[in-house]
Amino acid sequence: MQRRQWLEIEDQSWCPAFLRDGMTDYLQHVVTVMKPYKCIAPRLQQSISAAKAECVVDLGSGGGGPWLSLYRTLMERSEEKIPVLLTDRFPNEKAARKIEDAALEIRYARIPVDATRVPESLTGFRTMFSSFHHFPPSQAQAILEDAVRQRQGIGIFELTSRQPAQVLSMILVPLFVLLITPFIRPLRLSRLVFTYLLPLIPVAATFDGIVSCLRTYTPDELREMTLSLEGSDYQWQIGQEKLLKGPGAVTYLIGYPMP
Ligand SMILES: C[S@@+](CC[C@H](N)C(=O)[O-])C[C@H]1O[C@@H](n2cnc3c(N)ncnc32)[C@H](O)[C@@H]1O
Repeated sequence: MQRRQWLEIEDQSWCPAFLRDGMTDYLQHVVTVMKPYKCIAPRLQQSISAAKAECVVDLGSGGGGPWLSLYRTLMERSEEKIPVLLTDRFPNEKAARKIEDAALEIRYARIPVDATRVPESLTGFRTMFSSFHHFPPSQAQAILEDAVRQRQGIGIFELTSRQPAQVLSMILVPLFVLLITPFIRPLRLSRLVFTYLLPLIPVAATFDGIVSCLRTYTPDELREMTLSLEGSDYQWQIGQEKLLKGPGAVTYLIGYPMP
């Protein structure tokens, strides 16, 4: 299926915070409970350690994505505690408080950080979960170029794909949002109102889910992006890792300079 660069509602500056946060909190809850990214933990950990990175800077973090569960998995296998800084162009203030209350080495930057222009002061191994597809090819390429220019490692991970079956599966999203919302903490009145009384969150999550699939890059397209990058000492790994449970796979691109 051809890639489409359609708009996602949560990327729009006019998207109200309750709607964007409602969608990213839902996503955060699902990936924390289902742990689909667990399959890439060994590869990510090995790359962070091979790059000799002292911290991780997550871009497009939204509600925190998989980090609450992934951090514990990574730390089980690691002798050293690596701090993680979550960032977003539209920081999710309430998710930031919840994550920082979990007393892990995870902080959430309160200032907007654009993934295409990461400030030089934010050094660390960059990660992007379920967010690289938001960027059209020129900006996606710029994200990789910026990491290489600043000599930082980068890991990109996507759960969606342009497989017709996955695009179709997105019609189940409203059902999942309705079933899962009572379990998302903290319980928030706005989330309940805009899920059950005026169901903007399920509708927008379904729309963005479908568009996310259509925007996701294939491993071949990711490989193509790395070909023109400077930094011949960068080691690139691109491919798909099957989920530990259930059908599907995580598409990944990891690159770091060999120290
Ligand atoms: C689908 S959410 C993924 C959130 C999280 N990583 C997860 O796994 O649940 C995509 C996130 O990308 C953020 N985003 C969109 N454009 C961005 C940009 N230019 N720079 C940084 N973040 C951006 C959105 O605000 C949103 O929080």
